[in-house]
Amino acid sequence: MGKTFDIGLERLTGGSEFPIGSSITTNKGHANRLAARAEASELDTMRGASQGTFFLETFGCQMNDHDSEKVAGVLLSRGYQQVESPDSASLILYNTCSIREKAAQKVFSRLGEFGLRQNDGRIIGVLGCVAQQEGEEIFRRAPWVSLVCGSASYSKLPELLAQVEAGNQRVTGLDNDTDETFETTVTRRDNPWRAYLTIIEGCDKACSYCVVPYTRGPERSRASDSILREVRQLAELGYSEVQLLGQTVNSYKDPTARKMRFSELLLAVADEPGIRRVRFTTSHPRDFSRDIVDVIDAQPKLCNHVHLPVQSGSTKVLQAMQRTYTREEYLEKIAMIREAKRTISITTDIIVGFPGETDEDLAETLSLLDAVKYDALFSFKYSPRPHTPSLKMNDVISEEEKSRRLAVLQEKQREIQTARHSAMVGETFELLVSGKSRRENQWSGHTSCHRVINFASQEQALLGKYVQVRVTGATPNGLTGEQAL
Ligand code: 5AD
Ligand code: SF4
Repeated sequence: MGKTFDIGLERLTGGSEFPIGSSITTNKGHANRLAARAEASELDTMRGASQGTFFLETFGCQMNDHDSEKVAGVLLSRGYQQVESPDSASLILYNTCSIREKAAQKVFSRLGEFGLRQNDGRIIGVLGCVAQQEGEEIFRRAPWVSLVCGSASYSKLPELLAQVEAGNQRVTGLDNDTDETFETTVTRRDNPWRAYLTIIEGCDKACSYCVVPYTRGPERSRASDSILREVRQLAELGYSEVQLLGQTVNSYKDPTARKMRFSELLLAVADEPGIRRVRFTTSHPRDFSRDIVDVIDAQPKLCNHVHLPVQSGSTKVLQAMQRTYTREEYLEKIAMIREAKRTISITTDIIVGFPGETDEDLAETLSLLDAVKYDALFSFKYSPRPHTPSLKMNDVISEEEKSRRLAVLQEKQREIQTARHSAMVGETFELLVSGKSRRENQWSGHTSCHRVINFASQEQALLGKYVQVRVTGATPNGLTGEQAL
């Protein structure tokens, strides 16, 4: 479900950003040229620092994607070259996700592949949430790993890499209480038009199922002047869309004397010349205030999409999850968003099979779907995680039953999405074109409300441009269209 939405969270479930899959390619060459401009002077001073090559694979959410862009920037500035396959790399890094057990297991299966040839001289490192969660245990399970570094310690990555390069076999960066955010002078961005920007790290909420407060540490907001400086640089490099990131992005608290509210920051980002679209994810319902809706209404550059995870439609389950709001309070936030002058798309995350969830609780979640009519839904089976309060609750619901509940939920959303998509046929949207199919005259892009549309156009050079597209076809998972001239 939710494939039409270009939200990136699909990465958590192994989906693809482009619904027509491998036939779409992005213009990475252009991205690299843009990044190269920013990096040129730094690289000059570092030239010769390393003859190494690195392979970096990323699992998980957009925060991880963006962390990897920064890690790649740091490595490039040390003279490394990026390669597409681990076979030709002298440094292999996995930036890992531990939000659910399946994601965490993936990295151990990757690491296992190197066990048989552990003396071939390569350096292997584990970064991100599994690194933070498992710590030095990773060295025991995979002794061929030499670097284990959690995201809260990335500001130390250059030092840690220097130790690894000097031949140290067991290098760790596992502090979790740093108030430094990971600001690098060089970030190698993957997408040439849309730039991610982390504005708040970590999380101070304490949802009982969630490992993030443990793996990413306490909430730390980045200074507003530093954010705005980076947005200005991005605009100068040709980026027209910026996406502000944070686990609870709308809990942003400006640490400077300016004390900008989140909504004021949104307006200030949109005011930077060259910026055409500003989006933000993920919002926490508790901190979602009316002023955010007001600024979306006032400034069309602020995208009309809010990702507002509900997790469950049952107040009883929400309480057990420690989500800090009731079903009714959540629905009040939805009503506030629906009162906006512009139609704002709303997407959500839901967990089924949380300990103690009954059929009645599931029925409440289904009725919430009817009440809200989400534009897309990201749904997950509850997965017990280390260091989380819900581990102590009895996970009485079997995997089979969780799968059944997930299927029921997804079927419900399928019906809602089918109706929503059919109603869009004939409407025209502005798209930022970011993909070109190998099939002739076929392109793909995303709307301000974050939907992906595949469309036909006879024009030749559309990548990075904004075009009007009329929707001509709809399925539950996708929209197709043609350029409106
Ligand atoms: N089990 C299942 N899903 C989870 N999520 C977070 N932790 C868990 C867990 N332990 C889901 C939530 C969150 C999304 C990113 O991942 O729905 O919003
Ligand atoms: Fe996890 Fe809850 Fe924080 Fe989101 S708000 S990162 S679900 S603890």
